[in-house]
Amino acid sequence: MALFCGRTISRLCVKSTQSYLRRGALIQQQNQQLHRRLITQSTALPKEKVTLHFLNVNGEKVSVNANVGDNILDVVIDNDIDIDGYGACEGTLACSTCHLIFKKEDYNQISDKPSDEELDMLDLAYGLEDTSRLGCQVYVQKDMDGWEIKVPDAVADARDV
Ligand code: FES
Repeated sequence: MALFCGRTISRLCVKSTQSYLRRGALIQQQNQQLHRRLITQSTALPKEKVTLHFLNVNGEKVSVNANVGDNILDVVIDNDIDIDGYGACEGTLACSTCHLIFKKEDYNQISDKPSDEELDMLDLAYGLEDTSRLGCQVYVQKDMDGWEIKVPDAVADARDV
């Protein structure tokens, strides 16, 4: 359908244009309704959960349910896990207080590999090991169910260095 009908705008051309615009508005309205419905349905779906075990300095094991897709900083905060000074920069990759140590076999399964920025920050963490990661940079995966994650003996805030 042509919107431009020549130099003289005929009545037929005006009607066609109005009809075209009405149909466009209707399609846009339907798209918005569909979008709203999809958002409502996706947020209503229960999140998949896995169990993670945190091994604290004093040997205590704290087991929590973690939402797949959340980062481990959020898991620690949402479950009120008592780790001194944990997550001081709130996940902005500026402190290294969210340092955690994974088992070798688990470490290799983490799909998000550490960025250069994370590695730089890890260099400032206390008790660094080959399988260390920053909790704010690791996202919970389905295959993490049952993982044991070690909390380092002490926390170093890179901002104090
Ligand atoms: S919370 Fe600060 S680096 Fe992760």
